[in-house]
Amino acid sequence: MNDFSAKFDALFETMACDLQNQGYSVQHNALPASVVKALRDTLLSLNADQFKHAGVGRAHQQMSSNAIRRDTIFWIENNTAAEGQWLEFANLLQSYLNRSLLLGLFSFESHFAHYSPGAFYKTHVDAFKGQANRVLSVVLYLNEDWSTDDGGEMVLYDSDDNLSTVLSTINPEAGTLAVFLSEDFPHEVLPAKRDRYSIAGWYRLNTSSGNRVDPPV
Ligand code: OGA
Ligand code: MN
Repeated sequence: MNDFSAKFDALFETMACDLQNQGYSVQHNALPASVVKALRDTLLSLNADQFKHAGVGRAHQQMSSNAIRRDTIFWIENNTAAEGQWLEFANLLQSYLNRSLLLGLFSFESHFAHYSPGAFYKTHVDAFKGQANRVLSVVLYLNEDWSTDDGGEMVLYDSDDNLSTVLSTINPEAGTLAVFLSEDFPHEVLPAKRDRYSIAGWYRLNTSSGNRVDPPV
């Protein structure tokens, strides 16, 4: 086991307990500040025109995606050292959760997201029941010195309660990591007053049958 992985054992253990007990976990300073900064630098080095407006899922297809979400995204690949460290972290978390909770997480995809001032993402779930797709959602925030006056919180709701119970209001401060079961927690991003940067990622199950592998590797 190398240093990078040993460092996260206590964190992963706390996250696994939280997931077991409540289905979500919010951890501050989850990754080293240097890695978070390098991820932010990578994001900021991209040209604005590399960021695309994202789509929305089938449940919302009758509405314009612009009414639901206003962020722009850039899919992460192993192009820079910072992205590599993020993917390594995601991979270590995947192994840990598969060992401790037998979640069967198989693949991981993630993108940078930029919310311009005023941008939002209305209440949604990341996966729909019965479709073996996204199992676990992960969000890492990249904003230094975020104040509560800046808005842009992610609000996590109890799905059993008609959105009347707020489980957690998460400030998008650099280094904060939120994970939650994708099917179980409606959530939204409130409008921010300044540019808001994050990474959103999802683990999927292996839905391969026979020798067909889905999603393709
Ligand atoms: C998403 C999402 C939350 C955030 O991209 O699906 O809910 O705080 N993001 O960026
Ligand atoms: Mn979401």
